[in-house]
Amino acid sequence: MDRISIIKPDDWHSHLRDKDALETTVPAAMRCFKRCIIMPNLSPPVTSAESIKKYRDSILKHRPSDSDWTPLMVMYLTDNTSIECIRTAHNQGLIFGCKYYPAGATTNSASGVTDLNGLDAVFEIMQELGIPLQIHGEVTDSSVDIFDREKIFIDRHLTQIKHRFPELRIILEHITTEHSVEFVRDNDKYIAATITPQHLLFNRNDMLAGGIRPHLFCLPILKRDLHQNALIKAATSGEKKFFLGTDSAPHPRANKESACGCAGCFSHHAAIELYAQAFERAGALDQLEKFASINGAEFYGLEKNSELISLVRDPWQVPKQMDYGDSYLVPLAAGHTLNWRLET
Ligand code: NCD
Ligand code: ZN
Repeated sequence: MDRISIIKPDDWHSHLRDKDALETTVPAAMRCFKRCIIMPNLSPPVTSAESIKKYRDSILKHRPSDSDWTPLMVMYLTDNTSIECIRTAHNQGLIFGCKYYPAGATTNSASGVTDLNGLDAVFEIMQELGIPLQIHGEVTDSSVDIFDREKIFIDRHLTQIKHRFPELRIILEHITTEHSVEFVRDNDKYIAATITPQHLLFNRNDMLAGGIRPHLFCLPILKRDLHQNALIKAATSGEKKFFLGTDSAPHPRANKESACGCAGCFSHHAAIELYAQAFERAGALDQLEKFASINGAEFYGLEKNSELISLVRDPWQVPKQMDYGDSYLVPLAAGHTLNWRLET
């Protein structure tokens, strides 16, 4: 098999940043995706109808006039998010979801939520209006080991949210553990999960053995191989609850190669090829379309895309670095050979 065609994929979790970065990130997002959920963790964060509109407009300035690529905007929840704020954005058709970052969990999450109980009214209205909740599922308690933060979040908080808001649609973003796979799989139809290419292709040995590789550092952090294997199994299972979310999150090279480097991997340079690599390794290329192009749309209640894309077997080397405004990016799998190439 040297060529495969699949329904055009969507990315249910991505970071485009703002200002000059959009010159790089918007074309990269459009490369193989029809729709992309755009995360709101800018500085300052995107917390209101007004700021969402402004951010969406600035993104759309970089979309060519003949393109129908669609950014799906998400509102950043804080301790001060009000019901009115959600209603206003919802009534104007501006939000596709609301993002919950525990304060301090990841890049630009300082304004995130410090007290989950304070969000009861917000979750209530989201459940009522059918607005999905995208969750960064990690506790920030400094006494909890970084490799356990996702599991403890599920046990301490997510089970509670699920219990109290049974029909709130929840997406546990960028899952990294076997525990998360099982939690999502064993739960009801209102919860699903996204999986990134880095968590399918790499584990913590790739990041840490024989030298530290800062370009593989992202949050939630890569775990051991047994967790990687559980994620591969989930992604390639065809199960409806697991779908594509790259978490493509660019940072300038110098900010990652630093004494205190930023978390985030940029993957939009080769998103579908990276997933194809992981699926081929697992002998499951025939499941790629469900994961990349069908399950997410179904969960979010959208039509599948009508166009197709094709991948051809034509091994190529990922560039070691790319331009990023007046700095550089080191893309995910830089210098590695990928077997599949998007046919343009
Ligand atoms: C993301 C970023 O850089 O914005 N970083 C990451 O490591 N994944 C934020 C996030 O999704 O956690
Ligand atoms: Zn993210």
